[in-house]
Order: sequence, then C-alpha cells, then structure tokens
Amino acid sequence: MTDHSVIPVKPELAQGNRVDAARRAEMAERAARDPEGFWREEAGRIAWMTPPTRIKNTSFEGDVSIKWFEDGVLNASVSCLDQHLAERGDQVAIIWEGDDPNSDSKVTYRELHERVCRMANVLRSLGVKKGDRVTLYLPMIVEAAVAMLACARVGAVHSIVFGGFSPDSLSSRIQDCDSTLLITADQGRRGGRTVPLKTNADEALRSCPSVKNVIVVRNTGGGVPMEEGRDHWWHTLSEAAAADCEPEPMSAEDPLFILYTSGSTGKPKGVLHTTGGYMVWASFTHELVFDYRPGEIYWCTADVGWVTGHSYIVYGPLANGATTLMFEGVPNYPGVDRCWQVVDKHKVNIFYTAPTAIRALMREGEAPVKKWSRQSLRVLGSVGEPINPEAWLWYYRVVGDERCPIVDTWWQTETGGILISPLPGAVDLKPGSATLPLPGVQPALVDGEGQLLEGAADGNLVILDSWPGQMRTVYKDHERFIQTYFSTFPGKYFSGDGARRDADGYYWITGRVDDVLNVSGHRMGTAEIESALVAHPKVAEAAVVGMPHELKGQGIYAYVTLTSGEEPSEALRKELVAWVRKEIGPIASPDAIQWAPGLPKTRSGKIMRRILRKIAANETDSLGDISTLADPTVVEELIGNRVG
Ligand code: WT7
Repeated sequence: MTDHSVIPVKPELAQGNRVDAARRAEMAERAARDPEGFWREEAGRIAWMTPPTRIKNTSFEGDVSIKWFEDGVLNASVSCLDQHLAERGDQVAIIWEGDDPNSDSKVTYRELHERVCRMANVLRSLGVKKGDRVTLYLPMIVEAAVAMLACARVGAVHSIVFGGFSPDSLSSRIQDCDSTLLITADQGRRGGRTVPLKTNADEALRSCPSVKNVIVVRNTGGGVPMEEGRDHWWHTLSEAAAADCEPEPMSAEDPLFILYTSGSTGKPKGVLHTTGGYMVWASFTHELVFDYRPGEIYWCTADVGWVTGHSYIVYGPLANGATTLMFEGVPNYPGVDRCWQVVDKHKVNIFYTAPTAIRALMREGEAPVKKWSRQSLRVLGSVGEPINPEAWLWYYRVVGDERCPIVDTWWQTETGGILISPLPGAVDLKPGSATLPLPGVQPALVDGEGQLLEGAADGNLVILDSWPGQMRTVYKDHERFIQTYFSTFPGKYFSGDGARRDADGYYWITGRVDDVLNVSGHRMGTAEIESALVAHPKVAEAAVVGMPHELKGQGIYAYVTLTSGEEPSEALRKELVAWVRKEIGPIASPDAIQWAPGLPKTRSGKIMRRILRKIAANETDSLGDISTLADPTVVEELIGNRVG
C-alpha cells in the first residue's frame, strides 16, 4: 500500500504554463513585497470601463476601512458576458442539469448575454435603480444566474435567500435590506419533490411592505396564485423586453451583493461584497485553485443560495469564460450514482463538492462510483467544513482513481473566495489539510490573548492583512462588522475558526471556536435556533450546541427547559422539531432534544456551554471545572438524561 501521508504534485500538472511550485512561490513573494504591483496586474483579468490606478487602501485598525481598486469603474455582468462574446460567444456558458435525469439544457455566452440584457431591462422598467436591493428566492435553474447578472447589470444589489429557508427567514432578510423587488419561481424541484417557493414567498411578503413587485419564473408549472399589480410572470416580461441593455457603470467599491450569514449572536448579518475586488478575487481563485483551462467543463454542486454558488458557480467561472454546470438536484436522486452519471454525461473535468456529500456517498460503497468511467475528471475539490482523512482518501482513491489532486479549499462567506488551498500543480497534498495560503493571503495563528504563534502550533485562525475579495461591512451595521471580526484580536481579521499548523506550515482547520455550527456545510448560529425554540409557548429556556455527527459533521443538540406545568413527551419533541423547521428551515432541525429541568449557569447567570457541549458529545469524563456553577447538581441530572 502506498503511503498517503503526503501525496506529491502530479508531474503533468506542473508542466506547460501551469502554476508550479516555483511560480507559486514567486507569486506569493511578489504579492507580499509589492501588493500594489501584483494586484494591479491581476486586476487585468476582468473587464474595466476605467482601469484602477489606486489599488489598495485598507486598514484593520480603528473604524476598519477596506477599499481595493477604488477609482476603477466596471460592471460585473460585462466581465462575465460581454467580455467573452467576440472570442467565445457560441461556447456553452451554462450546462443545466435538471433534478430529473432526462432534463438538461445548454446556454451559450451569447444566449446568456441576451437573457441577462432582457431581464436587466425588465428590472429597469419596474423602476429598479443602481443601489436598490433585489431579493432572489429561486431554485437551481438558469434564471437564478440570469437574475444575479441582470441585477449586476443595472447596479442593483442582489440578496439571495436559499430556497430551503422558511417564509420567516425570507421576510426577515427582505426587511433587513428593504428590497423593493423579489424574484422567485412557482416551485422548485429537489430529489423528486417540489418546494413551494411562491407560496412561501406570499407568506413572507405579508410582512414586507417594501416589496412592490414580484417576478415569478414558471418552472414546474404548478399552479400558483398571482396577485394583480404585484406579481408578474418572468417569461411575459422578458419576451417583451429589448435584447440589449447598457450596463450601469459601477465604482469598484459599489456593492455587488448582500448575503446573509449566521454569526454567534443575534440575527443573521448581511455580508456586503463590492464589485471590483470581489470579481478579481473570484476570477483569480477560480483559475488558480482549480487550474482551470479554457474549454474545460467545471461543476460545483453548491446552491446559489450560498456564497460558494455566488463565487464558484456564477461569478468566478463566468468571469473566466468557463463552462459551468448548474445542477438542480441532489447527489442521491434518483440513485446514489447520480454525480458520476452526470460527470460522464457532460464530461466534467473539475468537480467541487462538500465533505458531507462525500461521506454520504462513501457509505454506499464503491460500486455506484465504479459503474461510471469518470475518465474526464482531472481535479476534485472540497469545501464547507473540515474533511476527515478517511473521506479525503475515499474521494481520492475511489472517485479520482488516484489520478486527480484534491483541493481542500478553506474560506467563508466573509472572505468572498478561497483563502487557503493547494494549487494542483504546486502544492503536495496531505489528506485532511487545506494546506497553504494562496498568494496574497497572510494567515496566522494567535493564542487566546492574541499573541502570534510561530512554527507548528494550534490556535485561532486570523488573517493579518486585507485581500481583494474581503467583505467590506455588515449591511447598515459597520459597528457590528468591527465588533465581530476585528475586536477579538485588534488589528487582525478573526475568522472564528481554530486551526493547527504543522512543521511544514500546512494548515489543518479544526472547526469553529465560536457559537456557530456547521451542519452538513450549512452554517447556523446556536443563538438563532435558541430564539426559535423559546418563541414556542411551551419553552421557557433553550441552549443549543453542536455534537459530532458521522454524516453531517455536526448535529444540532438542544437542551430545552419547559414552562412550568408543561410535561415532556415524544409528541412535544416532534412538535418542537417541526416548529424549528418552520421558523428557520429544514436545515435547522434539531437532531436531539434533551429535556433539561435546569441549565448549568454561573452565579452571574451565564450558561456554561462548554459543559453542554461535553455532555452532547458524550465526553462526560472530561467536564473540567464545574465549581463556579451556581448549582453543580444540574450537571449530574443532565448527564443522566443524555439523549442518543
Ligand atoms: C465556515 C464558513 C466556504 C464556503 C462555504 C461555507 C467552514 C469552510 C472549510 C474547509 C474546514 C471549512 C469554516 C468556515 N469551512 N471551508 N475547507 N475546511 N472548514 O461558507 O457558510 O460562510 O462557512 O465553514 O468553519 O468558518 P460559510
């Protein structure tokens, strides 16, 4: 058996004009020594109406101000579309693969340009202007990409809400940014089932007076009520609109999109990304990390409702003139071999997915994979959560036949794109490690007091200086931006993740060190789930922690104290699970609910989550010091009634 502790770069991937180890080192050195020069050149990868002369103007101190390419003028849709028309207008831009294996379609760059222009004209005709917010609540259909790019074309700021979120989650995200327009579909399709998007939207809109117009894609054809004067069919408006549309000139620092993400406290925050730096970062990282070559077919299995879909289904690949595959369905429908069937059908070269999917497929054994050739595959990617070495090796051996390097890409909604990842032709791999930072990225580890740790170490993962794709602020709440990311370790960006760095300088992400959960690669705040639970009339108090889960990475473990007079029961447990699903969405369903007559609190009333995490993980022999608890007997009671 071969030694898999280090897997060297495949020689063929370091040949030609590919980024090899020497080139990577040269780029990293240049980006650190002369960031202005390095990023001025890299800015040339996207289309500018006025190229920038001022490159980097950033500070992590005080009020925190991040500006890249600030005097440049551009439009993101031009970089993704117009820029390619002369050279590859007839090349396929998007391959759409339906939930039903018999339905697919292809859209060329020229066709996509036309569809985006039409929709952009529709938006303008409905009064949408530069800077207005437009919320998208859509399934994985081509119209989702068209809607994003149409917003970008007219300078509107899109805010996509994942189709799996509940009406309440949708309405609070619409209210936070005061969207004037919502784009949705009659229904979505996933794994043979339909998702009632329009019905959910109607419910959400009852509490969203800012929304004046709704554009509805006829997707499944399932009948939905249309409200006169407010709701319009996408196809009717689109057909009537002109097929060309002047792009709005945008400053590099004008917003491109808002995307809500969960933090350790409060409501989800609106992560704001701007135009120039984000586009440069999306293009740069997509090309480098996946070693993207013209003509290749690239498939990222994410949903456009998450940042991965923004950067690596739409903006990055299209900016690079790639053919990007958009998949409406799920990896196990109609069979657990669906991914490999799609790989063979469309001759996919680069495949990018999440560890949770890999673990689920691994459980089904090798046969469903081996049934398909997968010869087109060249690079495999992983994103969203730490990948355990066992899953990594299965992905490498079984899916990639030991031929394809695996790029384990660490990043966040906030970072806009990948920050730590191997480059296929340049970095030797270690199963389970995201390896090394990309050129221009300066990660570091600090201890609890903020002291920088040198060499091999374990600590909190921070980034020392800005990169172009970084978020600029929390929408309408710059104070929260500073507080969340720059106050724990002043002057440094704090990721919220813990990591280990080995003697070779390789990073091994160990997971969140704050109260954020990562369930199947979906990010959730414990506070959000707790507030959903306590909103139930029978719940007095709730504390939510993560627990290890074989498939999901983390599961949701909730401790619930009932209001006096209420009795625990199986029916009530089911009711609470359904309640959370309804309040937030199915991805937030608790995996375990433990009835807790009391919660472990300090004398000042603070819940000691450390103890609750230990009990949930069944690590009760290492609880640590519990002497500061107001009532230490609570702990025994909880241990005795552990669930699962
Ligand atoms: C959190 C960010 C990155 C886009 C999808 C998730 C975890 C992400 C990795 C990885 C270990 C990872 C981190 C991070 N994470 N990628 N390759 N290895 N952990 O974006 O929803 O903003 O979540 O996902 O904990 O902080 P997100």
